[in-house]
Amino acid sequence: MAQPLVIAPSVLASDFSKLGQEVRDVVEAGADWIHLDVMDGHFVPNITFGPDVIAKLRPHTDKVFDTHLMIEPCDPYLEAFAKAGSDYITVHAEATTHLHRSLQAIRALGKKAGVSLNPGTHESCLEYVLDSVDLILVMTVNPGFGGQKFIYSQIEKVARIKSMIGDRPIRIQIDGGITPETAPLVTKAGADTLVAGSAVFKGGSVESYRENITAIRTAAQV
Ligand code: DX5
Ligand code: ZN
Repeated sequence: MAQPLVIAPSVLASDFSKLGQEVRDVVEAGADWIHLDVMDGHFVPNITFGPDVIAKLRPHTDKVFDTHLMIEPCDPYLEAFAKAGSDYITVHAEATTHLHRSLQAIRALGKKAGVSLNPGTHESCLEYVLDSVDLILVMTVNPGFGGQKFIYSQIEKVARIKSMIGDRPIRIQIDGGITPETAPLVTKAGADTLVAGSAVFKGGSVESYRENITAIRTAAQV
């Protein structure tokens, strides 16, 4: 693994009625980053939250805010998500006409730029943006909902992306269906950043979140 393993719990699976507490609890339980799933009911068939919610969460932790935008268009909202306190902003290649421009815009806002690919999207679209990205997110479910089944065909895609990026300091992130069973499959293929929603937030207490994070981390490092 080129970069240290990062576990990024997705608050999508947390109790939204006490989001601040959930963020503090999952940080106490060992989360490295906080993954924030923004959905618009247009690019994906579900709606979550926007920049105002992220801004209100920001004072609850110093951990990296990893904002995953599942919105189309994305460009008009990049500044708002930057100002809200995101550290990484990831856009979908399928949701922007000018991917290179969107990534440059994120970097111009002083943030790390990520690009995400749906399971049906070929990695060739990354070829000409490799010098403009800090993170590549391989979706291992179709975006929109937590708790879906991991799509195994994406493991090969991860390995191909790993060889594409060579020595560049780009993180490979996986999102969807990550559990202690699937985590080692993707880290072996080259992933270093794992998002997990339902596998982390089950149990509803700091102790169970800690056990869940530790189980994923231990399995991923094997
Ligand atoms: C899905 C989201 C994921 C989701 C993952 O569109 O991008 O971040 O929270 O949930 P699990 O880990 O339950 O598959
Ligand atoms: Zn996500």
